[in-house]
Amino acid sequence: MTKYFQVAIDGPASAGKSTIAKIIAKNLKYVYVDTGAMYRSITLAAKKAGISYENEEQIAELLPNISIRFEPGVPVQRVFLNDEEITEAIRSTDVTNNVSLVASYASVRENLLKYQRQIATDNHVIMDGRDIGTTVLPDAQVKIFLVASVEERAERRYKENTAKGMTPDFETLKKDIEDRDYKDSHREISPLTQASDAILVDTTGLSIEEVVSKITNIIKKNQNN
Ligand code: CDP
Ligand code: CDP
Repeated sequence: MTKYFQVAIDGPASAGKSTIAKIIAKNLKYVYVDTGAMYRSITLAAKKAGISYENEEQIAELLPNISIRFEPGVPVQRVFLNDEEITEAIRSTDVTNNVSLVASYASVRENLLKYQRQIATDNHVIMDGRDIGTTVLPDAQVKIFLVASVEERAERRYKENTAKGMTPDFETLKKDIEDRDYKDSHREISPLTQASDAILVDTTGLSIEEVVSKITNIIKKNQNN
């Protein structure tokens, strides 16, 4: 087993994974690894290169152009496409609506898997995604499966987008979340599913502080074991 502590946080879209993981990474001085950002980056790279999202072979060739930068205790993971920073650009609606297809490709997943494991071999990590507890870090000391009702998740996204000055449509947001969850849960390789040894945390009706406190307690308990 690795000498570094590994916390895996998986769950459906907008359950609060990245929000919670960032706060805990800062508090514990761990490296925060957002694996979704990696899949988003490949998706954006394909768009910028004019490559069809259906073209797995050409998309896989884009992987060497992507890099991430992180620091222990700094709750920000920056993403680059060659020398261009794309940390914000990967959050676009176009990327969000196409990332699940790109993330279903074996060639893309295999390469990112190696990279994700390497980071966790060299650092204490809190890593969020869809397959961290099941596939990327099967020996993680703490595995959390974070969920919330789809209504509440859509509501959270709605508030977030409104605060950014956007004018989202609630039903569209909700449908997009449901579609993405369906695709992520039904793909052949590493589908979104709760690891048998993961702790289910339902955040419906809970504040960010309450969830942070709950998960921090679980981590502390395991650190002392
Ligand atoms: O929008 P949200 O923060 O919920 O998603 P994300 O974490 O940025 O992930 C974007 C997409 O990447 C997911 O919908 C999955 O299709 C894919 N993904 C994955 O397949 N495996 C992971 N470990 C992380 C993300
Ligand atoms: O990473 P993931 O897609 O799972 O979700 P997120 O981007 O961390 O969270 C989605 C939104 O829900 C953010 O605007 C958070 O501030 C909000 N949130 C919340 O209101 N209450 C929680 N308990 C957790 C997250």
